[in-house]
Amino acid sequence: MLNQRLLTITTLPTITTTPTFLTATTTLTFTTLTTTPTTTTNMETLTIETPKLKNDFLPLNGTDYVEFYVGNAKQAAHYYKTAFGFQDLAYAGPETGVRDKASYVLQQGKIRIVLTTPLHSNHPIAEHIKKHGDGVKVLALWVNDAYDAFEQTTSRGAEPYQQPQTLTDEFGEVRTSGIKLYGETVHLFIERKNYKGLFLPGYKELKTAYQPTTTGLLYVDHCVGNVGWHKMNDWVNFYEDVMGFRNILTFDDKMISTEYSALMSKVMSNGNGYVKFPINEPAEGKKKSQIEEYLEFYEGEGVQHLALATDDIVKTVTDLQNRGVEFLSVPTSYYKELTARVGHIDEDLEPLEKLGILVDRDDEGYLLQIFTKPVEDRPTLFFEIIQRKGAKSFGAGNFKALFEAIEREQELRGNL
Ligand code: FE2
Repeated sequence: MLNQRLLTITTLPTITTTPTFLTATTTLTFTTLTTTPTTTTNMETLTIETPKLKNDFLPLNGTDYVEFYVGNAKQAAHYYKTAFGFQDLAYAGPETGVRDKASYVLQQGKIRIVLTTPLHSNHPIAEHIKKHGDGVKVLALWVNDAYDAFEQTTSRGAEPYQQPQTLTDEFGEVRTSGIKLYGETVHLFIERKNYKGLFLPGYKELKTAYQPTTTGLLYVDHCVGNVGWHKMNDWVNFYEDVMGFRNILTFDDKMISTEYSALMSKVMSNGNGYVKFPINEPAEGKKKSQIEEYLEFYEGEGVQHLALATDDIVKTVTDLQNRGVEFLSVPTSYYKELTARVGHIDEDLEPLEKLGILVDRDDEGYLLQIFTKPVEDRPTLFFEIIQRKGAKSFGAGNFKALFEAIEREQELRGNL
């Protein structure tokens, strides 16, 4: 009965123009939220708060790129190409005149990742890697005016990370700026309307003979941050006050808990819904929360997972598994109860069970999702693969099965 919940999520504003026409003065009106009382014991903990946003002072066109600081960018690029199907796009390093670091830019669908490594131990990036291991440093957001994005956010209390600057080459100009986020993570604002190059000025085309096929990944659906004890609301307030986001979903520790561990989570969305950042914090349980394990091994707050969307999850996950990506698995009993829980779905159950794909439903449809194991030896960053079939939620009906799967892994690591 746990999952017979009725959930209505904030209806995103209908934007009839393309985001390009949004300006700092565009007024967005949001539809009034409706929450349907839940029918189960664990669901009354779900709350959806009324958005306070009236004016989208920070219009975002989407995620521009995600930059990872890694110990060996050449090998990381090979991994993301081989295992995930990313494609060569651009490169900057000694061969392009950059003396202190090397960056490989890979792309698949609308997803761009940058893998950067320092070339000497005294580089600040080396300090980042020493402390955190491989991890996400930059969540870059695509804006129409990077100078204004900096002004709007810093005037509301954001701590500057990078002053606005204009980068130029023969393909035009890119304007960028940046602000600090949780831990050592940052947001960069990228304005590229006057740029026709591959990525950013300073990068040259990356083209190697090794070109594995794609796996059908399309775009970044959401990106989740783990923050410290009792820090979630500070970052919710940051996204609301500084970035103009709104809280579209809240899960408290009664909802996200197993017999042993718990966490709390709030989902923050920007005005047009193109960018969503759930924020997790640990909660008290009998044993160690998976968020605590992350904080311990990342040695601080940071990005927990990136959810990448596909429109054919069975095909994508089959491909990823064949390429060596390791996923969490759930007990077969999960699939025995699935139809009763989520009703009819278009997909055959057999491949879902074989691959370990999870399903959840909300008022607007359903979604299919699966989670990788951490992609480095520290139990930190992992990926989610998600296919949305109407649902706008995040798979709350799978939390219990998923977190029990994570706990089995924690137990194996001796970290539960
Ligand atoms: Fe997720």
